[in-house]
Amino acid sequence: MTEFDAKREERIRRLLEHLRNDTTDQFEGTVSFSPTEFTDADLAARERELIFARVPSIVAHSSEIPEPNDFITLQLPRNNAIVVRQPDGGIKAFVNQCRHRGALLEEAASGKCRLFSCGYHRWSYDTDGTLRTITRDNTFGDLDRSQFGLLELPAEERHGFIWVIDSVGAEIDVAAWLGPEMDEVLAGYKLDNLVSFRAEGFDEPCNWKLMQDAFLDGYHIQYAHPNTAGKIVHTNVYAFEDYGRHCRWLAPRKTIDRWIDEDPGDQSLAKHVTESHLLLPNSTLLRLPDNHFELLTFRPDPVDPGRCRMEMRVIVPRLEETSYDEETWNKRWQRNWQILLDVLHAEDFPLLRGSQRALASQDAGPMVFGRNEVANQVFHRETQRLLAADDAS
Ligand code: FES
Ligand SMILES: [Fe+2]
Repeated sequence: MTEFDAKREERIRRLLEHLRNDTTDQFEGTVSFSPTEFTDADLAARERELIFARVPSIVAHSSEIPEPNDFITLQLPRNNAIVVRQPDGGIKAFVNQCRHRGALLEEAASGKCRLFSCGYHRWSYDTDGTLRTITRDNTFGDLDRSQFGLLELPAEERHGFIWVIDSVGAEIDVAAWLGPEMDEVLAGYKLDNLVSFRAEGFDEPCNWKLMQDAFLDGYHIQYAHPNTAGKIVHTNVYAFEDYGRHCRWLAPRKTIDRWIDEDPGDQSLAKHVTESHLLLPNSTLLRLPDNHFELLTFRPDPVDPGRCRMEMRVIVPRLEETSYDEETWNKRWQRNWQILLDVLHAEDFPLLRGSQRALASQDAGPMVFGRNEVANQVFHRETQRLLAADDAS
């Protein structure tokens, strides 16, 4: 057993103690917070500038653009962006805007192309952002082309994910942002060997933090999901680790129950737990016992604090790394995807849409995170810290 796995087994023993004693890991105290955190337009603008313009967040799994010239486009909180695989295997991200008169350069959500060619007057750009063609340039006038390439957003690939900072000119260092503990945790999962089975986005009438909070929450499971997730995982029991910016927590699945009374000895109990991770600022990564992962990302709307886009990805072992034939492999992950989707649409989304409406009441009152709501407390604490950084500088 590796040291990494041995540590997990220790933490699983801690979970068993919690289950025996009806306890969980906790914070020192409760924390109150305000409804305006989910509705205030000025705060949303500050979040865009002080969070998303400064720190890396995940925009895709590397396997979604595997080949040179594969690209995706997406709406980030500040910029509409193109992310494109380079001929040398690297990646670059750009503001999705033609530098002539500002047309949306690439309209497709994803694709492959050697050149980005503008639909308005047909200027074209290499996938490294260089301005290649000015149509009818004998009439256009002199131009220093080097000044009219695509504007580049800092992007980096690490641990199988593509990370972008949503601001031209920022500097990206994903390892430094993750910190040594979370960087090691993610390295241990070898996510770059896996493949994104499916990725989909949902535009929801909810603040991004309201949604992220629901996916950091092990306290609501048996109440909001009594006939689905509530049957599979325990509610309100975690072994939690706070890394000061990001955090992770183990939660027991009900298959562990026999070991509440019996001594499991030295055997591995890893198949009885789900491990969740808050990757600040806006992703939750779940590792399921069969070594597949679910990544949930919550991206603020560029304008409206009451809207966001949630992206969901199921990231799985490659077909050739498994003993399945293609049909079984597809069926298995498709089933998994569908279960997730059904719970989301039938159970979480209606609840969260209602919350957003409730929070918009003019006299909505302050609210509170319990000592048991550990990951929510970290998320709240760390977003507040990022927002406060500006007051200090
Ligand atoms: S706006 Fe793109 S070529 Fe004119
Ligand atoms: Fe939920």
